[in-house]
Amino acid sequence: MQKYYKIVTFGCQMNVHESEKIAGTLESLGYKATEIDEQADVVVFNTCCVREAAEQKALGNIGKFKPIKKQKKDMIIAVCGCMVQQEKRAEQIYKTFPFVNIVFGTHNSYKFKEYLESVLNKKQKRVYQVVKEDPCLPLEVESFRTSGANAWVNIMYGCNNFCTYCIVPYVRGREKSRPMEEIVSECKKLVENGYKEITLLGQNVNSYGNTFNNGKNNFAELLKEVDKIEGNFVIKFLTSHPKDLSEEVVKVIANSKHISHMIHLPVQCGNNRLLKLMNRNYTVEHYLNTIDMIKKHIPDVNLSTDIIVGFPTETEEDFEDTLNLLKKVQYNTVFGFIYSKRSGTPADKMEGHIPLDIKRKRVNKLLALQREIEKEKLKRFLGQTIKVLMTDRKEGKVFGKTDCGINVIIENVQEFKVDFVNVKINEIKNTKLIGEIV
Ligand code: 5AD
Ligand code: SF4
Repeated sequence: MQKYYKIVTFGCQMNVHESEKIAGTLESLGYKATEIDEQADVVVFNTCCVREAAEQKALGNIGKFKPIKKQKKDMIIAVCGCMVQQEKRAEQIYKTFPFVNIVFGTHNSYKFKEYLESVLNKKQKRVYQVVKEDPCLPLEVESFRTSGANAWVNIMYGCNNFCTYCIVPYVRGREKSRPMEEIVSECKKLVENGYKEITLLGQNVNSYGNTFNNGKNNFAELLKEVDKIEGNFVIKFLTSHPKDLSEEVVKVIANSKHISHMIHLPVQCGNNRLLKLMNRNYTVEHYLNTIDMIKKHIPDVNLSTDIIVGFPTETEEDFEDTLNLLKKVQYNTVFGFIYSKRSGTPADKMEGHIPLDIKRKRVNKLLALQREIEKEKLKRFLGQTIKVLMTDRKEGKVFGKTDCGINVIIENVQEFKVDFVNVKINEIKNTKLIGEIV
C-alpha cells in the first residue's frame, strides 16, 4: 500500500533545501508527498528560530496534529531544524508533545533515515537526538528537489559572525565549506538534468573557503568554476556579508556568462552606532562605497537587502538614517523585519528595548518608502524586451523572473514549459512587470 509523507518547512532557503534532503530520504524509502494532513504516514516539521513568530507558528502547527494522530495512531511525527537545536526548546517539544516520535537538531539531520527506521522497526518508540556540533562536514543526503526551475546547492554550513541579535551561529555552528570539486560536480549534474537556475547557499558565501578543510579556494574561484559549466542556466547565490564582499567577486560576476546580476547584501540598518552594537563590522560609509563599487562594475545590478527595525536603543533619528540609506541605495527589494528578542544572544540582554507598537510603525514606514522606490525603479522596463525564465503556471497565469530576479507575469503563453523566453513589458502592477512573449 502506498505510504505518504508531508513536510512542513519554516524559515530560510537553507531550510527549504534541507527539507528537500529529508524528502529525498522518504522518497528513497518509497513514500510519496501529500498535502493532506490525514493522509500522511510521516509528518516532518522543519523549524526556524530566527524570530519568535516563526517559533510560535511551528509550535501551533505541531499542536494541531494531536487530534489527527489520535485518529491515526501509527502516524510518525518528527520535529527538526533550528528551533530544536536549542536544548530547552527541544526538551519542551519532547515533553509537551508526547505524540511527537522523533526530535533531532541541525547537526545530525543527515541521520533522519536511521531515526525513522528505528521507530518504524519498533526498536524505539521515541527518538530524541539533539547533539553538539561535529567537527566534520555533515554527510550529503540525496535531495528530492521541489523548487521547479531552481536548484539549491549548499556551498557551506554555519556562521562565524555572531551578529548580536542573531541566533543562527548558536544553532548552525561554525562555518564549514564543502570542497569546491564536489560543489562543481553537483552543479554540472543539475545543469545536465535541465535545471535553469542554480542558487549557491551559505550564511555568508563571501567567506567560502576561509574555514575548515578547504582553505585553498575562495568564493571568487568557486564562482568562476561554476560559471565554466556549459549550458543555458543562471547562477545565483545567498547570502553575502557587506564586510566580506570583495571587488574580486564583483568583477567575476560582471565578467561571467551565467551569474545573475542580483546581489542580496543585508545592511540591517543605516546608523553607525547601531551597526556597532549589532557587531556587523562595517560602517555605513563602507557599505555605500561597496554599493558604488558594485554599480561601477555591474551598472544593471539588482540589489536587495534585509533591515531590522527597532534594535535596542534605536531612536527616531537612527531610524531616519535607515530610511535615508534606502533612498541612497535604491534597492529593488527590501526585506524588513521587526527586531525579535532571541534568548542567549547579546542583544537580548541590552538595555533600551523598543515597544512593539513603535517597531510596527517603523517597519510599515520602511516598507511604504520601499514600495515607492520599487515602482519608480521598475518604470525603466516599460516597452523593453527582456529575457525571462518562465517558472510556474498557477490559476491560468504564467509567472517568470528576469536573470536579476524581477518578477514578471507573462500573458500570451500558448505552451508552458520551464525555459527562457523574450518578453516585452507592457505594464507595471503592484511591483510586478506584465508582458507578452515576442
Ligand atoms: N530579529 C529580527 N530579525 C532578525 N534577523 C536575524 N535575527 C533577527 C532577529 N533577532 C534577520 C536579519 C537577517 C535575516 C535573515 O533575518 O535581517 O539578515
Ligand atoms: Fe546571523 Fe549575522 Fe551570521 Fe547572518 S551573518 S547568519 S545575521 S550572525
